Amino acid sequence: MASSSFSFLLVAALLGLASWKAIASDPSPLQDFCVADLNSPVRVNGFVCKNPMNASADDFFKAAMLDKPRDTNNKVGSNVTLVNVLQLPGLNTLGISIARLDFAPLGLNPPHTHPRATEIFTVLEGTLYVGFVTSNPDNRLLSKVLNKGDVFVFPEGLIHFQFNPNPHKPAVAIAALSSQNPGVITIANAVFGSNPPISDDILMKAFQQAIAFDPSPLQDFCVADMASPVRVNGFPCKNPMNVTSDDFFNAAKFDMPRNTMNKVGSNVTNLNVINFPGLNTLGISLARIDYAPMGVNPPHVHPRATELLTVLEGTLYVGFVTSNPNRLFSKMVHKGDVFVFPKAMIHFQMNLDHNKPAVAQSALSSQNPGVITIASAIFGSTPPISDDVLVKAFQVEKKVIDWLKSQFSENNHY
Ligand SMILES: *[C@@H]1O[C@H](CO)[C@@H](O)[C@H](O)[C@H]1NC(C)=O
Ligand SMILES: *[C@@H]1O[C@H](CO)[C@@H](O)[C@H](O)[C@H]1NC(C)=O
Ligand SMILES: *[C@@H]1O[C@H](CO)[C@@H](O)[C@H](O)[C@H]1NC(C)=O
Ligand SMILES: *[C@@H]1O[C@H](CO)[C@@H](O)[C@H](O)[C@H]1NC(C)=O
Repeated sequence: MASSSFSFLLVAALLGLASWKAIASDPSPLQDFCVADLNSPVRVNGFVCKNPMNASADDFFKAAMLDKPRDTNNKVGSNVTLVNVLQLPGLNTLGISIARLDFAPLGLNPPHTHPRATEIFTVLEGTLYVGFVTSNPDNRLLSKVLNKGDVFVFPEGLIHFQFNPNPHKPAVAIAALSSQNPGVITIANAVFGSNPPISDDILMKAFQQAIAFDPSPLQDFCVADMASPVRVNGFPCKNPMNVTSDDFFNAAKFDMPRNTMNKVGSNVTNLNVINFPGLNTLGISLARIDYAPMGVNPPHVHPRATELLTVLEGTLYVGFVTSNPNRLFSKMVHKGDVFVFPKAMIHFQMNLDHNKPAVAQSALSSQNPGVITIASAIFGSTPPISDDVLVKAFQVEKKVIDWLKSQFSENNHY
């Protein structure tokens, strides 16, 4: 295919893709250990335990040869060797795993997310340029050049990458991840290579992602005190004596249509802890989504929430893409239907009707789900992700990357 027509398709795809999401912290262990019985037919969250009397030291051991260089002779010039619960059954319920990363000279571990884990990364050999991008609306790129012995942390669910800028020497790193099965979603593959493919219409309009469960409440309620200078995970509580019924109420006008005259033809009205302080610590929020005829809520992720969508008016084509290997689960949903997008999975909705608008309402399992629109996080971050990284990740020419960056440099998220 001529590169110009490919560029057009890519661009069209990105403009069309609007949004994705997926995630969850691992549950806490309820006993000393629970070695995974990988042969059991019983399906649970994680794996069922082997009889503890039958567990041995070898269940907690793997001759993983993490000292040995891996073959980096592939398109991106990197190789990740992951030791998770599937390779080391003793990790079951323990919330941790490890990986060795090998980088060829100029090798790239392309932009990806781990829906279920924070990653702490140590450089063993060489130099690496690494970074991650925050959720909308800022999409800030926090990047740094790391040298041997340096440590860097990639927060759960955020899009990140590592690149070896040295044209002559390889590099090696070890990463520990806070899940027995962190999952990985490689942005370019998830968006352009899902099976079955995401429809071109959707790819023609949008793309984004982010992650982590909300902590459980430790009291009846904790209405956010937005004026407090104290910084905590979430917000500090107002004095409960000062709390009134109005703190648990919002005249949100969720019955009113919103304006969908924008590039993607959709409008999301969020009702979360920021505009509804009573939601603080409660692990829930709402959104109303309006779709113009042919409007798209482009591929994005909510780093911290599962989303339960109810169609109020019209018909929508909805879907989400799993972690690598990227399967697309999609469906036409009608008025009254309900669809669930698992935490931190890349997802989207599109109104396929040429004449009628559509409306949905979503409940989200976080007081502040966050949203990462794939296209804007990758091509519109501040400062921009280096061309070297994007050229290699998307396997296109530099001029295509520059054109895409020009399309997303303005702040066009919502
Ligand atoms: C313990 O292991 C033995 C052999 O490895 C197996 O035959 C037996 O069924 C196991 N017992 C339990 C309770 O899992
Ligand atoms: C990673 O390295 C291993 C061992 O060198 C090799 O078998 C495997 O094919 C490599 N994977 C990729 C994606 O290059
Ligand atoms: C309670 O509210 C009043 C007025 O709204 C304010 O002056 C006072 O400082 C508040 N008390 C506490 C303990 O937050
Ligand atoms: C969404 O709708 C509201 C109210 O109609 C409007 O003020 C806002 O600008 C719209 N947002 C976008 C992104 O179109």
